[in-house]
Amino acid sequence: MAFSSATITYMSIISNCTAAALTDAATTLLRGNLVAFPTETVYGLGADASNKDAVARVYAVKGRPADHPLIVHISTAAQLDKWASEIPEYAIKLARAFWPGPMTLILPRTDLAKDFITGGQNNVGVRVPEHSVALALLKEFEKQGGQGIAAPSANRFGKVSPTTASAVSDELSDYLSKDDLILDGGPCAVGVESTIIDCTKDKPSILRPGAVTKEMIEDTLGISIDLSSFTTTSNQVKASGLLESHYAPKAKVFLTGLPTSGDGLIALGSFATPDGVVRLATPSTNAEYAKVLYEAFRLADSKGITRIFAIPPTGDGIAVAINDRLAKSAFEK
Ligand code: TXA
Ligand code: MG
Repeated sequence: MAFSSATITYMSIISNCTAAALTDAATTLLRGNLVAFPTETVYGLGADASNKDAVARVYAVKGRPADHPLIVHISTAAQLDKWASEIPEYAIKLARAFWPGPMTLILPRTDLAKDFITGGQNNVGVRVPEHSVALALLKEFEKQGGQGIAAPSANRFGKVSPTTASAVSDELSDYLSKDDLILDGGPCAVGVESTIIDCTKDKPSILRPGAVTKEMIEDTLGISIDLSSFTTTSNQVKASGLLESHYAPKAKVFLTGLPTSGDGLIALGSFATPDGVVRLATPSTNAEYAKVLYEAFRLADSKGITRIFAIPPTGDGIAVAINDRLAKSAFEK
């Protein structure tokens, strides 16, 4: 139910995502409204990927520059050739190994992927997410005639991706309208955005590290992959996650030095909290670090903390994605 104050009527938050609620949400999308939904990585702000006006609203709600492309979400790899015109053998292997899951493939587009989705590029990003609510919504959307749901992370441009429905509401309620929805599927299991893999060349390269790690890709394909490509600014494909500053809370993030009284701290449990410092998260593994990172940023902002010290995790695997996001959140603008 939409709730309203004297002057504003807000979008609805659906906390009980029943089959009937998801049928309605799919219809809502096909009517051109926006539906924020949970995925295993972060919450997405969904629009019918074939509806130019709906997609334009996504850009307006996020405050995102129009030439930054959106990821199209589909329910199974079997839908991929609707959106992608050339699919190399290695991309098929990756899709088989990691979909549904936290991986986006960049591929040459078909005519279905219009300029308003790809930012005018000839490539399209496609992902099959692994969250029961996202998958059920996508299946229902396709059943009702939809082709794919375009969904960037459900935050204002340059800010921290939301990993809970209430974080989506905090970010976007001022910008969504009464016919839009937020589906609440609980906290996201992974907590950082999907691995983006450029599949437009002979060999894949990682544009944004995520929970599908370099080691996992190499094991699947039996080749070694270049990890340096995701840090280069000269990359031809445009990904806003490649900007040097992104994922930024209001507080300033420090990755070196030690916090003093009143500062916030994010670190593995083995790292003790100095006197007077506000512990924002105490993950016990790197996977848990990824899961709690963005909520810890939000907690700092809600407490009015102005300096966050994050102790970067070491090692490879998901630590690479965490360190990528930490470096961008700490980047001096
Ligand atoms: O985990 C995720 O990927 C989440 C969930 C909701 O699926 N989505 C997400 O979307 O993080 P977004 O728009 O916040 O970040 C996607 C990144 C952007 O940096 C965008 O520029 C890049 O993917 N991207 C999308 N399509 C692309 C394309 N055709 N070529 C190059 N980069 C692309
Ligand atoms: Mg984003």
